[in-house]
Amino acid sequence: MKAELRVNGEPRAIEADGDTPLLWVLRDHLRMTGTKFGCGIGQCGACTAHINGVATRSCLVPFASTIGTSIKTIEGLSRNGTQTLQRAWLEDNLPQCGCCQAGMLMAAAALLHQHDRPTDEQINSSITNICGCGTYPRLRAAIHKAAARMHAEQNPIALSISIGRWGAILKPFRRRKRRDTPRRLPYEYPVRPVEPSWWPARCVRSCHPAGAVWNCAR
Ligand code: FES
Repeated sequence: MKAELRVNGEPRAIEADGDTPLLWVLRDHLRMTGTKFGCGIGQCGACTAHINGVATRSCLVPFASTIGTSIKTIEGLSRNGTQTLQRAWLEDNLPQCGCCQAGMLMAAAALLHQHDRPTDEQINSSITNICGCGTYPRLRAAIHKAAARMHAEQNPIALSISIGRWGAILKPFRRRKRRDTPRRLPYEYPVRPVEPSWWPARCVRSCHPAGAVWNCAR
């Protein structure tokens, strides 16, 4: 049969048997191989995609039943790994072998859509995907981290008030500490002089975090 699916917000024309699992339509017909095959019987969750925002095991869903729905795959989170959950995944080195992680991410994204600050119990009961490497503790930590970031992004006023308050408290201490700091810092040292009183380069402390100024003129 011929049909049009809406995948990651775009209409996609498909020609396949109506009972072809959505997983194989995504992978073989649309070449969206981010959605993985694991068990094929709805147990592992590696094939998780969203259908109308609900995390669904795409290996069990005939593609004909998804006509008229909105499908989202791992490619729809972000292609370059910049989505908040994906960044938390990378920062916490969550994946080990990695074969279940696309499904885990999609399950986590659906969970955060339902609960913006999920508890460990909600994570455990909602994400039933199987990870053979046992990354569950890091999975929970990454979800909490992403949830906190998303919450802060969606509530910028609360974030700025909180930063402003801490900034006001910390600023005098930070300045006093700077003034008391000896001029020569452990990492501030002249390069060996070629001639007396002539330094080819000198590293000095910058007022910008992670910044450095090289004075080559002196
Ligand atoms: Fe679909 Fe395992 S491949 S649940």
